[in-house]
Amino acid sequence: MTMKALVLDQKVSFGIKLSEVQLPDLKPKEVKVKLRAAALNRRDEWCRQGRYPNIKDGVVLGSDGAGIVEAIGEEVDKDWLGKEVIINSANNWGENQKVQSSEFQILGMPKNGTLAEYVQVDVSRLANKPAHMSFEEAAALPLAGLTAYRALFYHGQVKAGQKVLVTGFGGGVAQFAAQYAVIAGAEVYVNSSKDDKISKAVSLGAKGGFNYKKEAWLDEAKEISGGFDLIIDSAMGDTLPGMIGLLVPGGKLIFYGATLGNPPMLDARRIFWNQLTLQGTTMGSDQDFKDMLDFISKERIKPVIDSVRPLEEAIAAFELMASGSQTGKIVVKIS
Ligand SMILES: NC(=O)c1ccc[n+]([C@@H]2O[C@H](COP(=O)([O-])OP(=O)(O)OC[C@H]3O[C@@H](n4cnc5c(N)ncnc54)[C@H](OP(=O)(O)O)[C@@H]3O)[C@@H](O)[C@H]2O)c1
Repeated sequence: MTMKALVLDQKVSFGIKLSEVQLPDLKPKEVKVKLRAAALNRRDEWCRQGRYPNIKDGVVLGSDGAGIVEAIGEEVDKDWLGKEVIINSANNWGENQKVQSSEFQILGMPKNGTLAEYVQVDVSRLANKPAHMSFEEAAALPLAGLTAYRALFYHGQVKAGQKVLVTGFGGGVAQFAAQYAVIAGAEVYVNSSKDDKISKAVSLGAKGGFNYKKEAWLDEAKEISGGFDLIIDSAMGDTLPGMIGLLVPGGKLIFYGATLGNPPMLDARRIFWNQLTLQGTTMGSDQDFKDMLDFISKERIKPVIDSVRPLEEAIAAFELMASGSQTGKIVVKIS
């Protein structure tokens, strides 16, 4: 059987193309999910640009998806057949809650991902689609929702009343982190390249925001907030010294990415004297995923969705992500 899918092909001009792809036989513990929707993450764009480790042409991109279980391997419980599901794209985390195992892998490279009519995954990666979400909303949740959850709760240990800055609100992870922090009772601020993205954050409960394109934004942020207990960031690069300067003594910077690259310098004295924590984080364990699902279902959180387009227009979805003009998740409707 073949299916329509978006594959990496570094020989074509934009690095990706729609193709007919063969589906392999189901393994005993696998399920075949007929995808209803998928969503992009910055990782897909890094793969397209050839800037992700160990990429291979011909692999179907996409880590996030929601759909219906259409077929099951011989060892899978028949109750899964016909279920509306989302897919946890974090594979082989292992038992250690502190860090993933060396076998850890993210769906969508090197294994075929979700920008396709079907995806085949181990049954352990399935969870019921949150009842309050459509397929499009649910597809936008797994990778970004999990990353934000671990950053804010596992590492950040956010508390009500704390001052929290979430950087780059337009980002897929950031919009979840900001929403979670509001629900946790924090006083939440964001930064962004665009004022309308800041307004969106405020409409979701953020206290305010700062346009990082404006030179004086750091001073403004310090004056208005008085400093932050917790910053959730993925920009890094030359923004790091400014972030460190915004933390109150004892504050924490949790970072899940380095979109702008490695920081050129580190103000070590400021960090040790003020007892600051700089903590990296990556996606999350199966326990984090379960906790995240319980949280978003209880609080009926929905992702901020920038736009939805059909699989046939997936290349336009990547062009949008490359432009950086989106607010929140870019979703691809599949069936
Ligand atoms: N470790 C992990 O498990 C993990 C998981 C997910 C993502 N990531 C990484 O985290 C980063 C974000 O991922 P994503 O999927 O959320 O990407 P995304 O949706 O493309 O968002 C990226 C955001 O970065 C923000 N940004 C750009 N320059 C900035 C600056 N100078 N200061 C502050 N923010 C800036 C922009 O915010 P505005 O649009 O508001 O200006 C942009 O929307 C990527 O590097 C990705 O690879 C890592």
